[in-house]
Amino acid sequence: MQNIVVVGGCGFIGANFIHLVLRERPDIAILNLDALTYAGNLANLEDVSSNPRLRFCRVDIGDRAALEKALENETFSAVVNFAAETHVDRSILGPDAFVRTNILGTSHLLDIVRKRQGIRLLQVSTDEVYGSLGDDGAFTEQTPIQPSSPYSASKASADLLVQAYHHTFGLDAVITRCSNNYGPYQFPEKLIPLMIINARSGKPLPVYGSGGNVRDWIHVEDHCRGVLVALERGRSGEVYNFGGAAERRNIDIVHAIADRLCGNRDLVRFVQDRPGHDWRYAMDFQKAATQLDWAPRYAFDAGLQATMDWYIANEAWWQAVLNQEYRDYYERLYGKR
Ligand code: NAD
Ligand code: DAU
Repeated sequence: MQNIVVVGGCGFIGANFIHLVLRERPDIAILNLDALTYAGNLANLEDVSSNPRLRFCRVDIGDRAALEKALENETFSAVVNFAAETHVDRSILGPDAFVRTNILGTSHLLDIVRKRQGIRLLQVSTDEVYGSLGDDGAFTEQTPIQPSSPYSASKASADLLVQAYHHTFGLDAVITRCSNNYGPYQFPEKLIPLMIINARSGKPLPVYGSGGNVRDWIHVEDHCRGVLVALERGRSGEVYNFGGAAERRNIDIVHAIADRLCGNRDLVRFVQDRPGHDWRYAMDFQKAATQLDWAPRYAFDAGLQATMDWYIANEAWWQAVLNQEYRDYYERLYGKR
């Protein structure tokens, strides 16, 4: 049995990754470390909670002593780091938690891992570190880092630390950078789940600016498969881009959700734009295709339908996260728009 540590496994992508590994890699056992922030949810792993190949420890990677203690008696061959503060709008409201978790927390992980032998660290990063594109072109792994938001700046900082640990200490590290994910268990602050639950609840659908901004959407399972093969076959010190080959304007996604869930577009509202809003992201993932034999499997329209079906079938899951913290955040962000 191979033991791996998944950090941030109670969030959207981390939980989907754990489901995938438990399903498809019977020889891997997982220790899941997560601080259970507002975005971390044990319900995301409820159906696998009794699996003997999965253990959980609540720990904050910003707390170095607690992290050391959680790992001191553990033997493992890899760490996959999903843990982060992840929402751009929250980073604009207040960057401190982003600096602490995304930079300091990653630095703690790196320092603990490098003092042991034979451990691979996979850092889950984002296309947002490359900044914004105009109407043409796509990010490659050679595109210079040029982050726009406090969130993406903190993720870029973490990437630089990972590369520095590889260069300076020979740490076996791989970085993956992915475009916008969608799918089950995504916290309803991000575009697609927010629009789905607002449409289901008869609430306004707030579209920033003109709605013309473009994202490249990837189903979370495709991203998780990419992380897994990069962990297993990625070359040490390398960066791998993943994308969904599904560029869409925000307004077209919101219309698709409104058409399906409301039958009309009456709830769509154009609201004040996000400060510093990146215009467009697009990923060139030829390197992952060539070196890792990876390609996205989901077609966007089918994946979006399946995601809407999941939220309809799992209303209890999302109703449970619409707590006071969520309502306060919602009022703070959207109240003034
Ligand atoms: P998420 O916000 O849904 O989950 C983050 C998880 O990290 C939560 O379980 C949370 O409790 C945990 N966490 C936060 N701070 C922590 C701390 N100090 N110590 C331990 N755990 C902590 O995020 P997500 O969307 O699943 O993203 C996972 C990773 O993938 C992030 O690193 C993000 O930058 C990256 N990423 C996300 C996307 C996307 O579209 N969502 C795309 C590319 C890359
Ligand atoms: O590209 C990868 C990144 O994708 C990840 O690194 C981030 O963790 C993740 O949050 C996501 O960032 P975005 O800012 O692109 O995602 P978000 O869902 O917040 O917004 C997607 C687009 O929709 C963006 O152009 C802003 C717009 N938007 C978003 C919200 C929440 C709206 O128009 N209205 C909204 O209410």
